[in-house]
Amino acid sequence: MLFRSRNGSITAKALEEMFPETAKLINGPSGIAGTSEWKAVAAAAEQQKATHLRDQLGDNERCAALRCEAEGVLLDFARQKVDQDTVAKLMALARKANVEGKRDTMFRGDVINETEKRSVFHAALRAPKVSAPMVANGEDQVKFVNGVLDKIEDFTKRVRSGKWVGATGKKLTTVLAVGIGGSYLGPEFLYEALRADSTCKKAASGRTLKFVANVDPVDFARQVDGLDAETTLVVVVSKSFTTAETIMNAKTVKNWLTNSIKADASSVVRQHVAAVSTQMQLTKDFGIAPENVFAFGDYVGGRFSVHSPVGVLPLALQYGMAPLREFLAGAHAMDVHFKSAPLEENLPVLLGLLGLYNSTFLGFNCKAILPYAQALLRFAAHVQQLDMESNGKRVAMDGSTLPFEAGEICFGEPGTNGQHSFYQLMHQGRVVPAEFIGFKKSQAPVTLEGYKLSNHDELMCNFFAQPDALAMGKGSEDPHKAFPGDRPSLSLLFDAVTPRSMGLLLALYEHRVAVQGWVWGINSFDQWGVELGKQLAKAILPELAPSAPEATSHDSRPTD
Ligand code: F6P
Repeated sequence: MLFRSRNGSITAKALEEMFPETAKLINGPSGIAGTSEWKAVAAAAEQQKATHLRDQLGDNERCAALRCEAEGVLLDFARQKVDQDTVAKLMALARKANVEGKRDTMFRGDVINETEKRSVFHAALRAPKVSAPMVANGEDQVKFVNGVLDKIEDFTKRVRSGKWVGATGKKLTTVLAVGIGGSYLGPEFLYEALRADSTCKKAASGRTLKFVANVDPVDFARQVDGLDAETTLVVVVSKSFTTAETIMNAKTVKNWLTNSIKADASSVVRQHVAAVSTQMQLTKDFGIAPENVFAFGDYVGGRFSVHSPVGVLPLALQYGMAPLREFLAGAHAMDVHFKSAPLEENLPVLLGLLGLYNSTFLGFNCKAILPYAQALLRFAAHVQQLDMESNGKRVAMDGSTLPFEAGEICFGEPGTNGQHSFYQLMHQGRVVPAEFIGFKKSQAPVTLEGYKLSNHDELMCNFFAQPDALAMGKGSEDPHKAFPGDRPSLSLLFDAVTPRSMGLLLALYEHRVAVQGWVWGINSFDQWGVELGKQLAKAILPELAPSAPEATSHDSRPTD
């Protein structure tokens, strides 16, 4: 078996001797890791390991080639440990893994989430009204989704204008969104991202949006502190409407409403509680009027649901419907790009392949998500669920154990805050591939008197400096002050934080997760790994009752 590289060829045996870890990866059982395309990437990665990024960055032709722009989003990946040849090999691997075919089945609404027997059709959430039908579960989802959006527009207009009032006749100016995981992280991210957008800020004047997620009662206590129940609308967000934390919080909030408002309990719930769910009967059983329930299809996974009523309802109550329509249009533009651009010029494909390459082939199992925008302060939290719940898997779609580790550990903070926190490790400790996200314009520009450059320029000089510092490093006679460099990063540059750009960004990360999972050959759309802990917690609950006998089974157990 031969591996061709630019410097000649090496045999599989030689590879095994020189790079036992890589050899283990590629000589595993059948499947993608056994293909010649995989082996070619593995061999290219070994070559890249021996090349310092400092030298790679001197090659102007290479740097110009490792760049891609679409929909006003610029991706610069010249600081990744790749060259044009590595990228070509990654593209060949993507083709071998049938990324294009899998992408088409997703957009067709096929049942590709095999373990849950569901379509993966979040793209239908942002399809414009005039689109060709997108059929899942025997129904045109474009029609269904747009019908629900119109219903949200009507409801949110009535609430915001005061046509829909609370049980005591007061305008509902506060929204308390109750949900967890995908029913919370995406919406909270978007809420924060748009807070300082001038149009959204104006539209939100006099209004408050809060989120309760944690079953820790302190979350509830902190969020309702200072709220007036008579002017509060509660939105219970739960796809399944069975999530233990959400149902407990929803009941707690319901009690708070009915105890605080002097009106008949059923009229309090009717006027003050709405829901977003796929489970109409369960929301009805909870006492929520069916006309105040906003549905979406079971083909939308929780972490892919921010473009569904999960995100649209609470955010439209806060900012009005117009920005949400722009948000959906941004995501749709990314869908169209993903669906139609050649793999080589396809942003989600490039991001997905680079993530795969860094983690599986170079062995860097973390990635840092570093938006240089305070407005994106919850982006890393959203990506943590989106990426790790999707790709944190150990078996292939057919159930066989993967011969490599899938998934990446994601974490992050906005710059420049992160620079004063964990960047020390990134510069001189472990290698953590970084994803820098920057914006040309600020939502809230400031230029101090006597300064030629704005505060945003101050932010952006850091955005440009950090990738170079990581890649180039710096020598020093004092080892404590030396920077080894050769640390990969990529940069994404947008025009500004707007509803549209946030739609583009979220859809970009959604699709990159799918691409990565398709090459790994896993099911990125289920999440069985969250179940065991839930079951054990359920079993422990009765043991916490004051009348229960002392429980000893959770202590350390005898080994014999
Ligand atoms: O943590 C598991 C999970 O099922 C997530 O996938 C989901 O986003 C979250 O719980 C909330 O689920 P639901 O919207 O059904 O309450």
